[in-house]
Amino acid sequence: MDFTTVLERMRPDLQRVEDRLVAETTLEFPLVSDILHGLIRAGGKRLRPLLLLLAARPFRYDLDRLVPAAAGIELLHTASLIHDDAIDGSPLRRGQPTLNTVFEPSVVIMVGDYLFARSAMLAASTMNPRVLAVFARCLGSICDGQLRELFAAHRTDVGFDDYQRRIYGKTASLFAAAAEIGGILAEATDEQLDILREFGGAVGLAFQIVDDILDFRGNEAELGKPAGQDLRQGTVTLPTMLFLQNGKATAEQRALVAEILAQGANDATIATAVALIRDSGALEEAFDYARRFVEEAKALLAQLPESESRDMLAALADHALARRT
Ligand code: IPE
Ligand code: IPE
Ligand code: MG
Ligand code: MG
Repeated sequence: MDFTTVLERMRPDLQRVEDRLVAETTLEFPLVSDILHGLIRAGGKRLRPLLLLLAARPFRYDLDRLVPAAAGIELLHTASLIHDDAIDGSPLRRGQPTLNTVFEPSVVIMVGDYLFARSAMLAASTMNPRVLAVFARCLGSICDGQLRELFAAHRTDVGFDDYQRRIYGKTASLFAAAAEIGGILAEATDEQLDILREFGGAVGLAFQIVDDILDFRGNEAELGKPAGQDLRQGTVTLPTMLFLQNGKATAEQRALVAEILAQGANDATIATAVALIRDSGALEEAFDYARRFVEEAKALLAQLPESESRDMLAALADHALARRT
């Protein structure tokens, strides 16, 4: 099954999540309400709520129970983007100016916190302590991953294990939680929940590796966010790691990239370094890592009951690799 078919089949169910997102961000505080609606209406791929629904689908699929949790997961994601963009000083998200370009940090922090609260209220509304535990743990993981990234900035001595731990925390843990929460609400067994969590985690790792590749290969118009940000911020991601370790680059080229990471550079120099890394074969090599995680994820699905839903989960995993935005 291809991903477009998955989206078509799931459209009515995702629309329920969409309606809930709008309802949850319609607040008695007009200013916060307008800001949040802008962000929600700007779109986003909604992959995490989709994963939550698909993870539930092989089991007891009760949309009324799932929609609040799916909306909660998407709001947790949105809140983390608000704070991420503020931390990174990034100007654009989903093709719109970020909150940090419009408001002072105090306002941005508060709006982000408000959304975290709102997402927690949605998780709590499931009245399922296990869901709440997964949710809370995941929020901790995101903070851990983001802190690891901050502390790793400007350092070139980062290994793959560090990188994997960091991207698991900041990104894959939310995919893992979405899949597990879908399973919990659909009354999957403990063994099935382990599979779903691992599936989500592996897809999430691939998803972030592809994000890190797109940061070199994508363009702002398509991505709806600036490219080249990681190098600009001194963040060593997998493509840069591979370039520094075993690319076909010369010693001077490697020295240039290492210097940019350590000290920063102007836009022209960053563009030169982006092109160097892009043309070094490091992106293809990084993509092989992502492909391996997707293979790992899909292999896990063999342990779930055979169903159309299982094919849909496989299509979502493949989409993490095929996506251009
Ligand atoms: C962006 O996530 C943040 C990462 C974890 C890379 P998405 O690429 O899913 O962002 P939206 O929701 O579609 O805008
Ligand atoms: C994902 O990492 C950040 C979060 C988990 C919030 P990135 O910093 O790479 O995400 P983008 O590229 O800004 O979307
Ligand atoms: Mg960012
Ligand atoms: Mg990125």
